[in-house]
Order: sequence, then structure tokens, then C-alpha cells
Amino acid sequence: MPDPYGYTFAEWRVRLDIALERTLPAGVAPLRLNAAMRHAALDGGKRMRPLLVYATGTAFGCDATTLDDPAAAVELIHAYSLAHDDLPAMDDDALRRGKPTVHVAFDEATAILAGDALQALAFELLAQASFSADARVRMVRELAGAAGVRGMCGGQALDLAATGNTDRSLSFVDLEHLHMLKTGALMRASVRLGAIAANVEPDVMAQLDVFSNALGLAFQIRDDLLDVESDSATLGKTAGKDIAQAKTTFPALLGIEASRERLLQLGRTMREALLPFGPPADTLAALGRQAIERIH
Ligand code: IPE
Ligand code: IPE
Ligand code: MG
Ligand code: MG
Ligand code: MG
Repeated sequence: MPDPYGYTFAEWRVRLDIALERTLPAGVAPLRLNAAMRHAALDGGKRMRPLLVYATGTAFGCDATTLDDPAAAVELIHAYSLAHDDLPAMDDDALRRGKPTVHVAFDEATAILAGDALQALAFELLAQASFSADARVRMVRELAGAAGVRGMCGGQALDLAATGNTDRSLSFVDLEHLHMLKTGALMRASVRLGAIAANVEPDVMAQLDVFSNALGLAFQIRDDLLDVESDSATLGKTAGKDIAQAKTTFPALLGIEASRERLLQLGRTMREALLPFGPPADTLAALGRQAIERIH
């Protein structure tokens, strides 16, 4: 069945692409670094995190046109995290979004710098966005917290510590914590940036956190399942990598069936969390379903 919000999502993706294109100019010096940044951020990806910004912001009263800067900022952080995740020192991957990874298309030093510069650019965008000074500071703090040691970087460190470490495998609780940090933190921040833009009340923010925590965890469990069950052509990245590298993943720890069961549970949590918001939250609910049902 086609997604009833497919057209809205396509429109938001176009908005995002225009915003990214504006902030990542072609043909500008230093040429190689700028080209690597464009390679990492443009032309590919589901754009899940920016869609969460747009869906949350518009659900609570913002016009989509006001959300381009926070939407682009989270995608820049995500693109940086992927460029670094693929480096030989981390997951050592050659394929991403159906293209060679940044260090393969360019070189390792350029991939490191491109990630660094994408991250800096994300905060520059937020700092100069068209919101009140108070909202901008809240957004910068939110995204910094989610990207750093208490979020994505912290989760990546836990992931690396558990990689190939078969005699000290993680508990279920530890693995959920790892997933919530490495993937969940940025998803949660995406929702919160949209919510800050819309200036929601604290109780609404807390309820949205229940939704986005479940979504982030579900998104990474689905990623772990797809690594086992799908193929590189469909994924646009190397399938079977997690087993090859002895990653501690959901299917490795719990098996496929229990992982699927956990996904269904998280789907229920997401639906219940959004109930109080009614139809305006329908696009968010659709993104929640995509996290669980996506095939790439
Ligand atoms: C991949 O993220 C890394 C994870 C956190 C699972 P996505 O699946 O959102 O990757 P793109 O942006 O669509 O390429
Ligand atoms: C990456 O998780 C999460 C990030 C923060 C980049 P994975 O290592 O499972 O992501 P893929 O499978 O390479 O996209
Ligand atoms: Mg990784
Ligand atoms: Mg990886
Ligand atoms: Mg993966």
C-alpha cells in the first residue's frame, strides 16, 4: 500500500535538498574537502531525521518553511557520523547509499576532515537560524548533547568496545542502551528540534520523548535485522557486515524472532505515545511505522 504521506515526505525531502545544496556549495575552495562533504551529504539516504524535524514541527503548528535549518543540521550530523562510521578504524565499509564511502572515493584524511567540517557546519546553521536567540541556544544544546559523548559518539564507543569481543558479550539491557545512544539520541534530538521550533509545553516534550526513544531503538534493531536478512544492492551498503565483524547486534544476541517481537512491542509504544496528539501527529506515526517496516 502506498504511504498516504508519501507526497508530503517527498516535498520535505526537496526542501531539505535545497537547504543542503545551499549550505554545501560546489566548485568552492578547498575543492577536495567541499567535494567530499557534498559526497557524504547529498544524493542519497532516506532523510529520516530531517523528516522527523518537519513532521514534529508541523504537527505542533510550525510552517515547514521555517524548519529547513534544523532539518539540515541533523542531516549534516548524521552524514558526518556515517563518513566516520565507515572509516577503516571503525566499520571499514566501502559502500554507502549505493556509492563508494567517502574515504574510498577520496582518502582517509579527507573523510575525517569532511566529517569534522559537516559537524561544524551543522552548528553554524543552527546558530544563525531564524528563531529567537533562546530557541537557537536550546537547539544547539540539544544537538550537541545528542551528537557527543552522552549520545552518538558515546554509543559508537560502546559499539566498538563490544565488536569482536565474543567472550564478554553485552546483556540485552546494555545492548538497548548502546542502540539508544548510537542511533536513538540523534532521532530523539530530531523530534526535539521540531518541538523546540514549535515551542511545545514540557509535558508534550516528555510525551514526544517516549515516542522518539522507541523509534530510535526500533530503527537500529531494524538496521541489525536488515544486515542479516537483506542484500547489499537493496541496502546500498554492505550486507552481512555485522556477523563478519562479530558485532553485538539484536539478532546476534536474541535471535531473529525475538528481535522482530521487540520491534512490534516498540511499534505499540510509539502508537500509544502519539495517541494524545490525534491526527496532527499522523505523519510522525507514519515515520514510526517506517522505522519498523523499512526495507533499506
Ligand atoms: C544508518 O542510518 C545508520 C544507522 C543509524 C542505522 P540510515 O539508515 O538513516 O541511513 P541513510 O541516511 O538512509 O543512508
Ligand atoms: C551506525 O550504526 C550508527 C551511527 C551512529 C553512524 P551501524 O554501523 O550499524 O550503521 P551502518 O549499518 O553502517 O549504516
Ligand atoms: Mg557502526
Ligand atoms: Mg557501520
Ligand atoms: Mg548497521
